[in-house]
Order: sequence, then C-alpha cells, then structure tokens
Amino acid sequence: TPPSAYKGISRVIAHRGASGSAPENTASAMIEAVRQGADWAEVDVTISADGHAIIFHDHNLVRCTDGKGLVIQKTLAELKALDAGSWFSPFSSDERILTLEELLILADSLNLSLNLEIKPTIGREAETVWAMQQVLRKTPFGQSILLSSFNYFALKEAQSLLSHYTRALNVEAIPADWQDRMESVGATGLHFDAEFIDTDMIGEVVSAGTPLACFTVNSLELAQKLYRAGVSSVFTDYPDRLLLDARPVSR
Ligand code: G3P
Ligand code: MG
Repeated sequence: TPPSAYKGISRVIAHRGASGSAPENTASAMIEAVRQGADWAEVDVTISADGHAIIFHDHNLVRCTDGKGLVIQKTLAELKALDAGSWFSPFSSDERILTLEELLILADSLNLSLNLEIKPTIGREAETVWAMQQVLRKTPFGQSILLSSFNYFALKEAQSLLSHYTRALNVEAIPADWQDRMESVGATGLHFDAEFIDTDMIGEVVSAGTPLACFTVNSLELAQKLYRAGVSSVFTDYPDRLLLDARPVSR
C-alpha cells in the first residue's frame, strides 16, 4: 500500500481553493491559494447529467453560476456554457466550472496537492466515484491526493474502486462511534466541522493517533487552538490569514 496522504499533509488547506478571495472551486481559486502560500486545496466533486466528474459544491446552480436548476440534470456542455465567476465579482466573468481532469492538470502544474471531497447527488454515489476513477486512472498527477466524503455509499464505493487512495470520513460533530464509522468504510482520517468543537472528542481521536482535520477555520487564533489540541490540518477560505509566517516580509 502507498504511504498515507496524511504523511505529507499541510497545516493549512485552502477550502474550495482560496474561496474568500476568488470564486470557489474555480481555476482562479486554485491559483490564488498557491499565491497565498497554500500547497493543499480542498474541492468538491460531483457529476454532470452525462456522467463527467466536475468541481462544484452545491446541487443547485443558482448560487455559484448564472444558470439555474440542478447540476446533475445538465450535460457537461450545458455546464461549460455557464459563468461561474460573476456571482463573486464582475472581474471573474471568464470563470468556468472545472472538470476533474482540468483541475488535476492545473493543480499538477501548480504543485498543489488535493483533497477531493466526493459530493454526490444522493443516489448517484456509484456513478460519481466511477467517473472520478476514470479520470484519476488516466491523468498523471505528481502531488498527493486525499479523498473524503460525508456520504457512506460514496466512501464504500471509493473503498472498492479507489482503495489505494487515502480516504477520510467527513462529519459535522465527532460521533461517539467515530472509530466504528471510519472502520466500516476503511477511512483513516476524520474531518469535522468547527461549529461543533468538542474538546473531549478531539482529545479522544488525537490520542488514538487518528489524523484529524477541521473545517472551516478562518481565524489564526482558532487554527492555533486546534493545532495545540492535536488537529493536524484546518480548511480555510483565507490561507493568507493562517500563513503569516510563510509570507515574504514586505517593507
Ligand atoms: O471537506 C471539508 C468541507 O468542505 C466540508 O463541507 O460543505 O464546505 O463541502 P463543505
Ligand atoms: Mg467541501
């Protein structure tokens, strides 16, 4: 088995790219993440109506594009015609929804490692993971990849189709039976929501030696508190806020 992606994971992971400074999950959010000093980014992966793996968070197009309706009901050609940036800024109107393949090529050129969060339409888990596998198997990628999902069926499918990738279970609050849940899908890491911080549960997971990451953390103070508690990495919309030391000194 290949080494765990957690071996080389960074303390700061750009959440949907540098999504505080650029439209989430787009090429400019990846470029901006690297510009701010990040070397890991998290993105959300789902599929189009014609089964292509694409990078998009919501089920509905309305928040992050100029289209409407459900992503799963649009072909890749229809999705590619949409403006995925103007909702964020009038200067981002050239932004398009990325395919997973385009993302891998871009991230590879940026030396950016990726947490691919599997975000399937409920009921389309197998198709989503299969689409990801088709792309991952044929696209050369020299950086690390970590898979994660909130979805049990997606993680089960990844356990069979993408077993050589490190896989994490996403939760909101850390559940009492976190170990059983992780074991049932073969996950080796746990990612939880900063809204539901429970110091005792964090201690339990960290004591067991299980890699633990927390989303979404946009203040340095909270990040430092979590690192002190043993959290390995945090997902942030603002990598530069958490990477103050890494920034060149300006005068
Ligand atoms: O993967 C961590 C985090 O992104 C999970 O929540 O809703 O931002 O995809 P969400
Ligand atoms: Mg996500």
